[in-house]
Amino acid sequence: MHHRQIKDFPADFLWGAASAAYQVEGAWDADGKGPSVWDTFTKQPGRTFKGSNGDVAVDHYHRLEEDLDLMAQMGLKAYRFSVSWPRVLPAGRGAVNEAGLAFYDRLIDGLLARGIAPVLTLYHWDLPQALQDEYGGWEDRRIIADFAAYCGVLYQRFGHKVQHWVSLNEQNYNLTNAYLLGTHPPAVQDRRRFYQANHHAFLANAQAIALFRQTVPKGLIGPSFAYSPCYPSGSSPEEMLAFENAEEFTNWWWLDAYCLGRYPQAALRFLQANGEAPIIEPGDAELLAAGKPDFIGVNYYYTTTVTDNGLDGQTLQRINTTGQKGTTPSSGVPGLYRTTPNPNLATSNWDWAIDPTGLRTGLRRLTSRYALPLFITENGLGEFDQLTADEQVHDDYRIDYLRQHLLACQAALQDGVELLGYCAWSFTDILSWLNGYQKRYGFVYVDRDEVAVRSLRRIPKDSFYWYQGVIARGGRDL
Ligand code: NOJ
Repeated sequence: MHHRQIKDFPADFLWGAASAAYQVEGAWDADGKGPSVWDTFTKQPGRTFKGSNGDVAVDHYHRLEEDLDLMAQMGLKAYRFSVSWPRVLPAGRGAVNEAGLAFYDRLIDGLLARGIAPVLTLYHWDLPQALQDEYGGWEDRRIIADFAAYCGVLYQRFGHKVQHWVSLNEQNYNLTNAYLLGTHPPAVQDRRRFYQANHHAFLANAQAIALFRQTVPKGLIGPSFAYSPCYPSGSSPEEMLAFENAEEFTNWWWLDAYCLGRYPQAALRFLQANGEAPIIEPGDAELLAAGKPDFIGVNYYYTTTVTDNGLDGQTLQRINTTGQKGTTPSSGVPGLYRTTPNPNLATSNWDWAIDPTGLRTGLRRLTSRYALPLFITENGLGEFDQLTADEQVHDDYRIDYLRQHLLACQAALQDGVELLGYCAWSFTDILSWLNGYQKRYGFVYVDRDEVAVRSLRRIPKDSFYWYQGVIARGGRDL
């Protein structure tokens, strides 16, 4: 009997875990930090579960050494974190807050001293409130220069000791919530403004990467994308067309802009016909072309299954121009498809489809379309974890989820995908942007909830010890 050899993970594979500043740091106004749009938004009534906010979060800012020691104990090879823009530039631009930079120096040096590679995310949604107030943040082209100037400060300071950089985290998810669904700040629901804000974010991303080439020539940089590969719900030609439309509007719109420097044709035509396309100025195409990434950061949680909604492009255009309401489905993007549950997939308790094979499929699609290295910058399971009486968390469901997804990565490597690393989301439990601490992702339990801060004690879950073993074995015998 001949056994097919399973490809090992590369020896320099970045076995990691991830976090984001607003979700872990706390210290929201300490040492000169300015407010971000999330500091303001979460304090408006009714925005988040029980009014939870990141004022304290898991207080990583003050418990840095303890958290670093836990990372070392786990054997992490990489730790992905984000820098809070208003901690470094309290007013968004201009004066630099030295105390803010010093915190990230301590974090980066602490990682390096423990043999852990820092993966630095430049932007994980916490825009300085000052820039939102002054010109509407992402809706104004001034954001391009301000973002580049902020990135420049970090390149100068950390470029010699950080090799892996993530530019924008989940622009697609964040701006969809911010400008279509109205659930993230600034809570707008307007399709034209949505596409314009995204256009500026693409330009800011490209400008930041172009500057990176000059300042950190040996580093690697790319955006992290919330990637949900699409499935057609059936095999009729109409459903296949709806599937292609969904891919263009939910995935290729962003990834083509980042990696190819242009928008996908059919989606662009469609938006132009509806008066929703972004205004593209002379020079924009050149800037996008000058800012291509070294890798695509993939944040993967679930796949999306779509079906035809019975409206073709002409029909939708007629509906829009006659001003009829209520015909465009709430899933957002033009009425050419709608999402539908996939009967083949189980879902988590938060109703997210669990689909490890979808990760393999997705990684292959990205490789075929863009021929770039990939880096899984997030993957994980949000659950209602229970602390037992003897202070343990038996999260076998999380171990199972992560194992299945790592096996899918291994299969993708076998298929020829180039994968730099895998950062599980998240290292410790974190503040869920809208859901407080009911939805936990960490390898390390943190003693608090949305109402009571409690002891903030760190308690490694079963998954902590499991992942420790995986890393020690270099991913063998999953
Ligand atoms: C993606 C985001 O980047 C992260 O901040 C969030 O907590 C996870 N998804 C889970 O929803």
